[in-house]
Amino acid sequence: MSAVEPFDAVDVIRAKRDGGVVADDALRWMIDAYTREYVTDAQMASFAMAVLLNGMDRDEIRVMTDAMIASGERMSFAGLGKTTVDKHSTGGVGDKITLPLAPLVAAFGVAVPQLSGRGLGHTGGTLDKLESIPGWRAALSNDEMFAQLADVGAVICAAGSGLAPADKRLYALRDVTGTVEAIPLIASSIMSKKIAEGTAALVLDVKFGSGAFMQDVDRARELARTMVALGADSGVATTALLTDMNSPLGRAIGNANEVRESVEVLAGGGPADVVELTLALAREMLALAGQPDADVEGALRDGRAMDAWRRMIIAQGGDPDAALPTARETYTVTAPRSGVVTRLEALPFGVAAWRLGAGRARPQDPVIHAAGIDLHATLGESVTEGHPLFTLSAEDAARFPRALDALEGAWEIGDAAPAASTRVLERITT
Ligand code: URA
Repeated sequence: MSAVEPFDAVDVIRAKRDGGVVADDALRWMIDAYTREYVTDAQMASFAMAVLLNGMDRDEIRVMTDAMIASGERMSFAGLGKTTVDKHSTGGVGDKITLPLAPLVAAFGVAVPQLSGRGLGHTGGTLDKLESIPGWRAALSNDEMFAQLADVGAVICAAGSGLAPADKRLYALRDVTGTVEAIPLIASSIMSKKIAEGTAALVLDVKFGSGAFMQDVDRARELARTMVALGADSGVATTALLTDMNSPLGRAIGNANEVRESVEVLAGGGPADVVELTLALAREMLALAGQPDADVEGALRDGRAMDAWRRMIIAQGGDPDAALPTARETYTVTAPRSGVVTRLEALPFGVAAWRLGAGRARPQDPVIHAAGIDLHATLGESVTEGHPLFTLSAEDAARFPRALDALEGAWEIGDAAPAASTRVLERITT
């Protein structure tokens, strides 16, 4: 005889539909019963829509997050003997910051367990980028991860399927039911995975603008505040930076070319905005790890961050000196007039790189590591008529027309340089 369930999904849905607050035990049951496949996809989709329309209060979001953590394994780095601090970005175009950031922070003796994902749609995935490096391996066992954290300090690897499995189901359902955009659901989804991962501290890079998940800055701020509060409620010291994703980050959009650009940053060079954001996030992470005065610029300049990068890549089977893949076909767009780049919209560039093969259209598709876009001039830079503006790379020239379609109207050359801007708009703490 089957056990009697203590709640009915319909009651939980009705409570949220009518703008009420769902009781803790009912909400915990709803998530648990969905993970057990007792609550159906139709019921959960209806509940997610009610949350999207009516929101959740801080306690409900905390309980929902807790319930998703409880649906799977919870890791602990308590035995490591090092402070752990992680970073999460809500994703953007050309966002390769994890690559230079993890070894930079690890150079200060801090452990950075960076459990990452793959890209879907126009935002790239950290693991896809690193897999451009010959031999590099994303899948590590927990023991391998611990050993690497103890030795090198930085690990970037695939998140195991044991972390917050309720979120995995719910996220896939939200994706096809128009309920991705609910702030309580995004916040609990991201934070359940980060808290389950066992980090002691967390820095969030919450992006706003054309290439971000949240285009509107006020909604991005609300998401950041919600996640910072959730971290505090769960004992994970959390800070967020609100950062601009209206134009692509850096000059490389793709996989292998983003690794190349990250190595430039680790060598003390690289585009100013990538360096700015890497340093800002590193300072936040090290402040949470008890090193507010760490000389992060110095670690990029004197090769300490590069050493940590090389050790991190080698520990995961990669060859940091191996040549990265280059594309068979390239197509360069030149400046139609002399002037200044006044507009470069992130989303169309992300979509174009994706259409070139840098991203995948279906989860099971492979990415093409050499595909992508390299910008020769970025926002505010001068260009001369006929000189290269950006180069598309692909394995097959047949991919160029659709990528160029995506870029129609995405950039502009004018006379007056746009006001100089920085990527970091605001810092959000509890
Ligand atoms: N990333 C996540 O992990 N979850 C969301 O809901 C949105 C982005």
